Amino acid sequence: MYIVEDKKKITTTRIRQMKQTGEKIAMLTAYDYTTAGLVDEAGVDMILIGDSAANVKAGYDTTLPIGVDEMIYHARSVTRAVKRALVVCDMPFGSYQISAEDGVRNAVRMMKEGRVDALKIEGGEEYSEVISRIVTAGIPVVGHLGLTPQSVHQFGGYGLRAQQDSEVEKLLHDAQVLEKCGVFAIVVEKIPAAVAERVAKAVSIPVIGIGAGSKVDGQVLVVDDMLGMNDGFKPKFLRVYADLHKVITNAVGTYVEDVKNVTFPSESESY
Ligand code: KIV
Repeated sequence: MYIVEDKKKITTTRIRQMKQTGEKIAMLTAYDYTTAGLVDEAGVDMILIGDSAANVKAGYDTTLPIGVDEMIYHARSVTRAVKRALVVCDMPFGSYQISAEDGVRNAVRMMKEGRVDALKIEGGEEYSEVISRIVTAGIPVVGHLGLTPQSVHQFGGYGLRAQQDSEVEKLLHDAQVLEKCGVFAIVVEKIPAAVAERVAKAVSIPVIGIGAGSKVDGQVLVVDDMLGMNDGFKPKFLRVYADLHKVITNAVGTYVEDVKNVTFPSESESY
């Protein structure tokens, strides 16, 4: 198990330094107080309140339905628990696409009410204006390129991105544009490992991968997926570190059995 020696709160400066020193960045999602506390205690460097909450917590089949109010609710729960990790919150679909002004207003609200350390925004050059303005407002931003789930209907699914030369060139260009806009890190999702390596070499800020191989500056996974909460969800890039689906259904099944048999509560569990 990884032992955290430095308990100091992680800042964006520290995250940038990690690329320079070659220390890999470990990032996971969390959406609630209890999980965020556990994930923080176990030593992740960054916690993402992902809009994947729409999938894993609310049961939608895309991330599109979740809104700013719901993200702020998740953010508040997470930030109340976290002591060390840098907490990043996704700007949900519709919160920055309408206009730069609307994007800045939503970003300010998410920072004030969610009390997070930074925001994450999907998309490249087409969002450079809103991203620059949010950064100018003093808000640290993480970019997100490759498979950007808020554009799932435009892509026509969740397949591997950046397979054609033209898309690879756009990805490299977008990463450089995002760096110029002032983002302090970029998440790249579901792209070939060799392309992710090129992106990581093309910018001086950390590139954090999900389904993007090991030649990047860090990794991020959805916590429910890596803990095996969602039985049967096993894309190629996912490593499942625990079988909580089995642990929880076994525990609950045993409880139901005990209630039915009146073996719970026992005398020692009664007043
Ligand atoms: O919403 C999310 O969980 C994410 C990660 C997959 C990077 O954006």
